[in-house]
Amino acid sequence: TLGLNTEFLGRNLHYHDSVESTQKIAYKLAYDNAEEGTVVIAEEQIAGRGRMDRKWHSPKYTGIWMSIILRPKIPIPKAPQLTLITAVGVVQAIEEVTGLLPEIKWPNDILINGKKITGILTELQAESDRINSIIIGIGINVNTGIEDFPEDIRTIASSLSIESGKIIDREILIRTILEKLEKLYLLYLEKGFFPIKLMWESYAISIGKQITARTLTGEIKGKAIGITEDGVLLIEDPTGEIHNIYSADIQIEG
Ligand code: BTN
Repeated sequence: TLGLNTEFLGRNLHYHDSVESTQKIAYKLAYDNAEEGTVVIAEEQIAGRGRMDRKWHSPKYTGIWMSIILRPKIPIPKAPQLTLITAVGVVQAIEEVTGLLPEIKWPNDILINGKKITGILTELQAESDRINSIIIGIGINVNTGIEDFPEDIRTIASSLSIESGKIIDREILIRTILEKLEKLYLLYLEKGFFPIKLMWESYAISIGKQITARTLTGEIKGKAIGITEDGVLLIEDPTGEIHNIYSADIQIEG
């Protein structure tokens, strides 16, 4: 057991050896009214999913592949806040457990030494403009060796063990993430997003830098000047016009 010290997060825990995707299982559980805080974890995903229809490589025993069901009573446009809250919780947990210093690249990549360690995927179930549930998928490369990664991502991806030179206890890390995340979520429900926005910004690498954002409709270049209360990225282009970016891949220039 994980020896969890939480009120509700992870109290209902579904553990699997091998699955297609924990996200898919959690989505179904949420649809079947699973309680808030339900967590699905697997040792391996054979069809792990990333953002923008990409694959998420999830080899056995090497990482943390988990999905969490939350049911906050918030309007749909505020849902991206949950992704940012999750990123803060995961960064805090990685710091505490490994001593490494992770950084966040908007909206949800967690990097160490410039390489991607963690991805977060947030999906919504809504009914007539009300959120029924938010399913947050977290993928962390923990004890992944460089040879475990497909060749084409070896220069951009890494793991906690590669970066720290140590094998990391996955159970301790899972427990710490769930505990940090529950605290942040309760703080959010009580005080709103502002305190978390400040924490998020303290870890963010993109803010203040020249970036290129690739959206589904095109490319925007400019300076990342911050995020809004809803977690939307603001870019000021060279003409001074400000763009709201809801979803994109960003590249930091220089
Ligand atoms: C990204 O593209 O950066 C997001 C990756 C999210 C991966 C996690 S692993 C657990 C959950 N199940 C999935 O199939 N995807 C998410």
